Amino acid sequence: MKTLIQNITQLVAVPPGPVAGEAMRRPPIVEDAALLIEDDHIAWFGYRSDAPDHAGARVIDARGGTLVPGLVDCHTHVVHAGSRADEFEQRIGGASYIEILEAGGGIKSSVRMLRTASEDDLVAQSLPRVRRMLECGVTTIEAKSGYGLSPEHELKTLRAIRRIAAETPVEMIGTYLAAHTIPPEFAGRPNEYLDQMLESALLKSIVDEGLAEFADVFCERGAFDLEQSRRFLGACKEAGLTPKIHSEQITRTGATAMACELGAVSADHLEFVNDDDIAVLKRSKTIPVVLPGCSFFLGSPVAPARKLIDAGLPVALATDINPGSCTIESLPLVMSMAATMLKMTPLESLVACTANAAAAVCRADRIGAIAVGHQADLVLLDVPNVNRWTYNVGVNPVATVWKAGRVVVERGDRAVG
Ligand code: NIG
Ligand code: FE
Repeated sequence: MKTLIQNITQLVAVPPGPVAGEAMRRPPIVEDAALLIEDDHIAWFGYRSDAPDHAGARVIDARGGTLVPGLVDCHTHVVHAGSRADEFEQRIGGASYIEILEAGGGIKSSVRMLRTASEDDLVAQSLPRVRRMLECGVTTIEAKSGYGLSPEHELKTLRAIRRIAAETPVEMIGTYLAAHTIPPEFAGRPNEYLDQMLESALLKSIVDEGLAEFADVFCERGAFDLEQSRRFLGACKEAGLTPKIHSEQITRTGATAMACELGAVSADHLEFVNDDDIAVLKRSKTIPVVLPGCSFFLGSPVAPARKLIDAGLPVALATDINPGSCTIESLPLVMSMAATMLKMTPLESLVACTANAAAAVCRADRIGAIAVGHQADLVLLDVPNVNRWTYNVGVNPVATVWKAGRVVVERGDRAVG
C-alpha cells in the first residue's frame, strides 16, 4: 500500500534524535516537496519533481501545506480522575502549589478521586483528552501513573493507559510514578511506603505485563528527598524500568545530577537547574525536558531552555498535562509558549517535540523524524510553514494525521488566515 503526498510547501525533515544545541535551529527543509509512504514507513521524500515511480499509489494533494513528523508528548499525567478547579481558584487567591499539597490537597486530592474511580471510569474520563491531543497532531503519548499510590490503584491506572492505547491510534507509553507523593496512610513513613511500592512481585508484574517501560519520581519538598528518589529509581531500574525524574521544579534538590548518574533517560521540569547541573547533563545522555505550560499555569519561573540549548543539549518539550500544575492538552500551544516564554524558535520547538521527545522515550530510532525507513507518523498542516503554526497561537491548522502510515485524523478545510 503506497501513498504519495505532494504539493507540500514546506517539509521539515527533522532527523532522528537526539538533535542537540545549534542543530535544533536548522533541521533540513525541503520546499515544494513530496513524500512517499509505503505500508507503515516513509519510503522516500524530496523535491516533488524528483518523485519516484508511484504507479498505483493513492495521491494526496497537500494544498501547499506543511508536513512535519507526528508529535511526541513525552511527559504527561493525562490519565487522571476528576478536576482540581477549586485549587485553581485558591491559587489565584494566593495559595501556593506546595502549600496546597502540604495541606493534604494537590496530588492527594487527585489520589482520593482516582481511588474511587473504576478502571472503566478512568478510561472514560481520559480517552477524550487523548483524542483531543491526537487532533492537535500528537501520535505518541507517555502517560504516568502516580495518582493511585497503592499497588491496586497504580496497577489500575497502568491498565487504563493500556486500554486507551487499544482504543485509539495513539501509541501510549506507561510510566510507573508510584513515587509521586506519600499517601496519607503512610504519612511520616515514606520509606515504608517505598518498600511496598518496590515489592519485587509488583515490579515484576508491571514489567512482565508490559504495563510500564519507565519509572519516575517527584523529588521535591512535600514528596521524596534525594536519597529516597535514588532508592526508588535504582530499584525500578534493576527490575527493568528505565528511570525518569521530576527534578528542580519548585526548589533545587540536586535530583538532576543524581538521575544523570543513574542513567535516567530524561530529567524533566528543570526550572531551578544551575550551571553545575547543566555541566552534568552535558556529560550524560539524559535528555532535558522543559514544560513551560506548567510555569504558565502556576505563574512560576520558567526553565532556562535557551541556556540549555546554547550549552549544546538536546532539549525536549512536553505538555505535562495534569489536573494540578498544567491542564493544557495542546502540545502546539506549548510550542507557542516555548517561543514567547523560553525564546525557543518555532523550528527548535518542533525538533524538541519530535526527535528529542522521541529520544526521551527511547524511540528515536523509529519515530519523531522524517527519515527514510522511519515509521510514517506524520502531520499535514494547513499553513505554509512551521512559524505560522506557532504564530497563530491556539488555532489548530492540523489537516491530516498519519500513524504508522494510516490516516487517523482527517479534518475539513482548516486554512488559517
Ligand atoms: O509534573 N510535579 C509533580 N507532578 C506533576 C503535577 C501533578 C499534580 O499536581 O497533579 C507535575 O507538575
Ligand atoms: Fe509531571
